[in-house]
Amino acid sequence: MAQPRIGVIGGSGLYQIAAIEQVQEHVVDTPFGMPSDVIVTGELSGVPVAFLTRHGRGHKFLPSEVPYRANIYALKSLGVEYVIAVSAVGSLQEHLKPLDMVLPSQFIDLTKQRAQSFFGQGAIAHVSLAEPVCLALQSVLAEAVQTVKPADVALHVGATYVCIEGPQFSTQAESHWYRSMSADIIGMTNMPEARLAREAEMAYATLALVTDYDCWHPKEAHVNANMAIMNLMRNAEQAQAVVAKAITLLAARWPESAAHTALDAGLITSPADM
Ligand code: ADE
Repeated sequence: MAQPRIGVIGGSGLYQIAAIEQVQEHVVDTPFGMPSDVIVTGELSGVPVAFLTRHGRGHKFLPSEVPYRANIYALKSLGVEYVIAVSAVGSLQEHLKPLDMVLPSQFIDLTKQRAQSFFGQGAIAHVSLAEPVCLALQSVLAEAVQTVKPADVALHVGATYVCIEGPQFSTQAESHWYRSMSADIIGMTNMPEARLAREAEMAYATLALVTDYDCWHPKEAHVNANMAIMNLMRNAEQAQAVVAKAITLLAARWPESAAHTALDAGLITSPADM
């Protein structure tokens, strides 16, 4: 099988993509330790693809415990150039309803205890994160969602995702604060994942599945894990269909992405010195 140029990171509720054929499992060791799980490669409609479950099969890792660097490094080492990240999120805006799908374009990173970079110790780089999401990949995802979603599921393109450390959900004061900083959705995992993908020169885009209204809404119940998981299960199958469609669209185009050359303007230590 050819190297997979597309990698999918499945969040809570997305532990496999049933349509992947000729499945092989790869145990990939990295300088940053082992990834969350084996990386599954195979073909989806004839397109080589890699799949990794972010929390591990059986959901072994808290968001703070996910080995983000190993995950991105391992996907990169298998040849992945485009990362589709699937994630459950809470909504911080009335019009983003549970079961809707959102494609965020921006992140606010409020995580506190995660390794944020592949660089350091003499290997120096400062990549641009001004546009942390690859908009070409996002537009493929948007087309995929429009093609497969039922009429009652809305798609929203271009939100701001605030990433908290967790594992606890937010206080009401925090939830209102995030709203006041123009955040639209909230989750616990897309940072530092998106940063690391950029350092690894991989195009990155998120398919966010709304599961709840966090705890700011005057009329809706405050989020708890059962509520989030129940709503996630309700659109996990749709998420798989979106990812499958996005993979075929992507393979028909292989869009250019500025992410693929992110280090050209960001690397300070010359690669020859590393
Ligand atoms: N994931 C799903 N819902 C969430 C919420 N309200 N806060 C943080 N992460 C979430």
